[in-house]
Amino acid sequence: MIIQAKGCPFHRQPAPTAPKQGEQAPQPPVDSTDPAGLSDKLNNPKAALIPCPWWRTVINNDMVKVDSNGNVSMKDLRHALKATGVTFGLREGAMLGIKRVAAQLAGAPTGGISGFMHAMCIDKINVLDLPKSSLMHTGDSGTLRKGFNQENLDRLLSFSSDGRRVTANDLADANKKQVEADPGESGRKFGIAEYSILLNVFGKKDEDGQKYLTKEDLSRVFKNNQFPENWEKPKVGFFALGKSILGMFERQKQTD
Ligand code: HEM
Repeated sequence: MIIQAKGCPFHRQPAPTAPKQGEQAPQPPVDSTDPAGLSDKLNNPKAALIPCPWWRTVINNDMVKVDSNGNVSMKDLRHALKATGVTFGLREGAMLGIKRVAAQLAGAPTGGISGFMHAMCIDKINVLDLPKSSLMHTGDSGTLRKGFNQENLDRLLSFSSDGRRVTANDLADANKKQVEADPGESGRKFGIAEYSILLNVFGKKDEDGQKYLTKEDLSRVFKNNQFPENWEKPKVGFFALGKSILGMFERQKQTD
């Protein structure tokens, strides 16, 4: 008897059938720590651990090219910052700091004049190594540490004071609680800077000029790595960013 290559003839599996009309084909399960499927997109499980919502969103929207090792060129990064509204002065200022971080991640010395010159010449940053970077700090929201975490996103959303929108004051309150739970001055400074840039880049302005993200907007960015619905490119420079940073520090002082 010829045993068919497809298996034992007495235990043959029913042939898979095409879904009937109107029936959904089974979908692959979504990894709850990587709901946007970045690891599949970059073909690397470390992609699920990228800790920054902006990076995740620009990668998911193909605004930067990530090579097979996780590198993004400084040219692409500069374009993505521009495309998300970060204006010239702030962008170039940020690029100087980012190059230094990229050099540290690449294991290059960054001290002294020669370290500075080396950092200035660096032309790529490894986004998969960001969790090892000096930018990591205490008191983050915990939403994207070790992959996406719904519970921590819900906790961040719970700071919405009107139950609908998340404003600068709400984010300042969230940062304050996060830093109380996980103390460290860098958590306050970096955390407030990150929440301010988040609000300025992804937020909208209400009729009184107050910036906010709806709770859905915040979830879309952190969880789905998508831009908020009806997002329009803002203009984010030192002035706008500085104003919200000062406002958040002021809010924290008032609530001491
Ligand atoms: C306009 C651009 C950007 C925005 C709006 C933004 C926003 C944010 C926000 C809101 C967080 C806090 C996440 C949390 O607490 O859960 C964060 C974290 C982070 N971002 Fe960005 N980011 C931007 C650009 C960048 C760039 C260019 C880099 C590095 C090259 C970067 C690296 C990081 C890292 C490493 C963290 C993790 C910090 C931690 O968990 O301790 N971000 N970012």
